[in-house]
Amino acid sequence: MLVMVLFVGSCQNSNSAKSTVHNGKVSDAQNEEELKSQAQLIVQFSSQALLGKLQKSIGEQGIAGAVDFCKLEADAITDSLSLAFGVDIKRISSKNRNPNNAPNSEEKKYLDQFESEGELALPILVKTEDRFTYFAPIRLAGGLCLNCHGKLDESMTLEQFEHIKEMYPEDKATGYSLGDLRGMWKITYN
Ligand code: HEC
Repeated sequence: MLVMVLFVGSCQNSNSAKSTVHNGKVSDAQNEEELKSQAQLIVQFSSQALLGKLQKSIGEQGIAGAVDFCKLEADAITDSLSLAFGVDIKRISSKNRNPNNAPNSEEKKYLDQFESEGELALPILVKTEDRFTYFAPIRLAGGLCLNCHGKLDESMTLEQFEHIKEMYPEDKATGYSLGDLRGMWKITYN
């Protein structure tokens, strides 16, 4: 947790240093670029944090144990990252496993956009009247992911498949191949 606080701290320092150079007259465009790179760092850090915990859990308890761990801990981990970074961090998917990660109609719009852009999809910062929101695509980049999001009898054993369906009766998050869009990060600045 300390590492995260230091990390956020250093981010904010570099932003304020830049603002001083411009005598406080940072243009909107500059501000948005800074927010965008900050959000990108938050996403990188959060992905690493989740991946690290996932790998540790698979090492200690195997795939089935790691599914149980994710069910118990994934929300708590993103909540604590949100607290540490002072933003709201969510993972959202059209084919969600955790019912909390289903998209609302606005979020669905960005997921559809990323899906239609394919491999060219890039993160976007959206400005509304009262806040900035950052959306970044999540891809299934490694074989590890397919153990729990892949296809039955290809990358998932029947046992793994059934265990997941037992833990998440409404699961939609299997059937993926490498490189597919799995969902997106949503970072909200309130
Ligand atoms: C050990 C099994 C396992 C592995 C391996 C795994 N996941 Fe998951 N994943 C889960 C579970 C379980 C959830 C639901 C967690 C929860 O309840 O919030 C989940 C949720 C997600 C979500 C949130 C959206 C949703 O469907 O609820 C994303 C995005 C995601 N996984 C991407 C990945 C990626 C990318 C990888 C590879 C780096 C990966 N997962 C590897 C089990 C796994």
